[in-house]
Amino acid sequence: MSRIPAETAPALSVRELRKTYAGGVEALKGVSLDVDPGDFYALLGPNGAGKSTLIGIVSSLVNKTSGEVSVFGVDLARDRDAAMRLLGLVPQEINFNLFEKPFDILVNYAGFYGIPRREALVRAEQELRAAQLWDKAQVMSRTLSGGMKRRLMIARAMMTRPRLLILDEPTAGVDIEIRRGMWRTLREINAAGTTIILTTHYLEEAESLCRNLAIIDHGRIIEQGPMRTLLAGLDVEGFVLDIEGPPPAPLPAIPGVGLQATDEHTLDVELPRAMDLNRVFAALDAAGVRVRSMRTRSNRLEELFVRLTGEAGAPPAQAPTVAERGA
Ligand SMILES: Nc1ncnc2c1ncn2[C@@H]1O[C@H](COP(=O)(O)OP(=O)(O)OP(=O)(O)O)[C@@H](O)[C@H]1O
Ligand SMILES: [Mg+2]
Repeated sequence: MSRIPAETAPALSVRELRKTYAGGVEALKGVSLDVDPGDFYALLGPNGAGKSTLIGIVSSLVNKTSGEVSVFGVDLARDRDAAMRLLGLVPQEINFNLFEKPFDILVNYAGFYGIPRREALVRAEQELRAAQLWDKAQVMSRTLSGGMKRRLMIARAMMTRPRLLILDEPTAGVDIEIRRGMWRTLREINAAGTTIILTTHYLEEAESLCRNLAIIDHGRIIEQGPMRTLLAGLDVEGFVLDIEGPPPAPLPAIPGVGLQATDEHTLDVELPRAMDLNRVFAALDAAGVRVRSMRTRSNRLEELFVRLTGEAGAPPAQAPTVAERGA
């Protein structure tokens, strides 16, 4: 059987992948997807959707029940070691030794992959600098902040110079400033030619970083394609405005905008995504309404899910605030 040359093969090709765990949970029910070389690809989905299972199979940590996986044309079942050499993994849980120093963690990891020590020392410095951790190279890893630990995981995965970097919720539980720093790092890695796949709960994260995505739910891909095409379906967005004093009655009429007072200090706004929010603010200002703060009314991922599945409440509750958008 002929092999697709690595230069033209997808970075990742998954065909009809199924996984039934012992105990009977069907975590993947026939997943197929292709990720192009150089792409920045998101796997989006709620808790328990099957994202980590998919990543686990691709990185040989979990045995598949059936289906096919290849990395740059290298079939995982036929040539596991060659496929693994092309791939770097940042797992969902922090899994380095907290009593080792970052520099040693990186050098030892490289050693495990057969990289000569002299080369490993050079790369460790490069990767720690790229992850803005060079000043922490010789501290006990236990003392790193949560965000630093996550960056260390990325630096470690980059030690083998993978052509495909897979990250399982790299920004879970880190605050927005650190998250943005990580986004910058990941964009740099992608711009330098590494294909990236990441899983996330945050639509905003996928939107900010990724060109293509698959949405996975209950072990099935319910939507996949370019980010832009998908978001075009989300044409309305809602905001909650916290205002000073009671809202005026009647509320100003703004063409195309739904405006509603939900209590003495709160206005609910719904407007087409394409519309400039300044129009709303100008109209409110003219009506003497002072806006103290605002946030997105709903998790847009949730809206997207409702649209795709007709089911409410599937995705997680954390809705990023307005301040996080457009980072
Ligand atoms: N080792 C395991 N044994 C049995 N069932 C498992 C195992 N790992 C995962 N599952 C089940 O498989 C399903 C998919 O889990 P998975 O971890 O792949 O989801 P996920 O999309 O990564 O979720 P999260 O966003 O919470 O990380 C869940 O129902 C989960 O309980
Ligand atoms: Mg997971």
